[in-house]
Amino acid sequence: MLSLGIETSCDETAASVVKDGRVVLSNIIASSLKLHQKYKGIIPEIASRAHIESISLVTKQALKEAGVKIRDIDLVCVTQSPGLVGSLLVGISFAKALSFALKKPLLGIGHLEAHLYASFLSQPKNGARPKKADIFLPCIGLVVSGGHTSLYHISENFNFRLISATTDDAVGEAFDKVAKILNLGYPGGPVIEKLARKGNADSLRFSCATSQDLGFSFSGIKTAVLYRSQVIGCRSQVADIAASFQKAVVETLVEKSLLACERRKIAALVVGGGVAANNYLRNRLKEEARLRNVDVFFPDFALSLDNAAMIAGLGYQLYKRGKRSNYYLSPEPS
Ligand code: KG4
Ligand code: ZN
Repeated sequence: MLSLGIETSCDETAASVVKDGRVVLSNIIASSLKLHQKYKGIIPEIASRAHIESISLVTKQALKEAGVKIRDIDLVCVTQSPGLVGSLLVGISFAKALSFALKKPLLGIGHLEAHLYASFLSQPKNGARPKKADIFLPCIGLVVSGGHTSLYHISENFNFRLISATTDDAVGEAFDKVAKILNLGYPGGPVIEKLARKGNADSLRFSCATSQDLGFSFSGIKTAVLYRSQVIGCRSQVADIAASFQKAVVETLVEKSLLACERRKIAALVVGGGVAANNYLRNRLKEEARLRNVDVFFPDFALSLDNAAMIAGLGYQLYKRGKRSNYYLSPEPS
């Protein structure tokens, strides 16, 4: 069964064809990031207009790369929530029109749940066989994106139950705000990760609020970085701040996600969202999970950031389990 995924929740216009919910046949992403960079953040109206310009081309390219015709598609899946309302609306309107014209089912998908599904996808290259899905359900899911930091319980039927979330900033947002404070540009995650390699992670003692039990809080550490940055003298100290900040947020993510596994007596953890591209997080979590006998899974790098393969893949699983949307489908921004 072939599902087409459409993702337009933020600044990426993405389309993908996935076979049987597992094998990514194409994964096309056009980003309007460059248009937003001078504002150091995403401007919703600019993002919506860019989606309108790109969506047809991106979808055509996804079909071409997958080697399929539009009439071969069995299911149309689209991001419904959360995201920028104008951006979501472009994708949803496009998906509705396709579904209606093709007489194929339509399915609205949650972006955060889809991030967690990304670890279940495989991308066979040059005709290589797809790797066997080896993730056991139920498992715990950790979402680390630009707008969310949450822990989920994922059941055998891909039911996602929220366990905890951040009480203030998301972890990706903290990376972006700290980069802004340090004048490093946008998005902050990749630049901070790169700069942190040159710094000493133990030189400064930053920490995240720990009184939230399984919940997260990242706004205090951002303020601590702001005060610290007002007294720095040279460039090497900026690298020390980046490294110490990254270490502190990663330690919280590691500690709380493994605590959720322990509490629920579940020995598998999947991680998804833009911050899952961070190598320091990947390594620390794998290291600590091994010590506690927990299997931890990250998506391929290309599927960590926003993409439509995760939408098409999760769409297939939910469709198989009876989920359907109708033409009243509308964006749920938060
Ligand atoms: O999931 P995503 O692509 O979009 C949302 O759904 O929000 O996540 C974007 C976030 C941004 O905040 C960005 O700074 C962060 O992911 N990010 C990273 C890295 N790459 C992207 N954070 C830390 N390290 C990275 N390598
Ligand atoms: Zn995302």
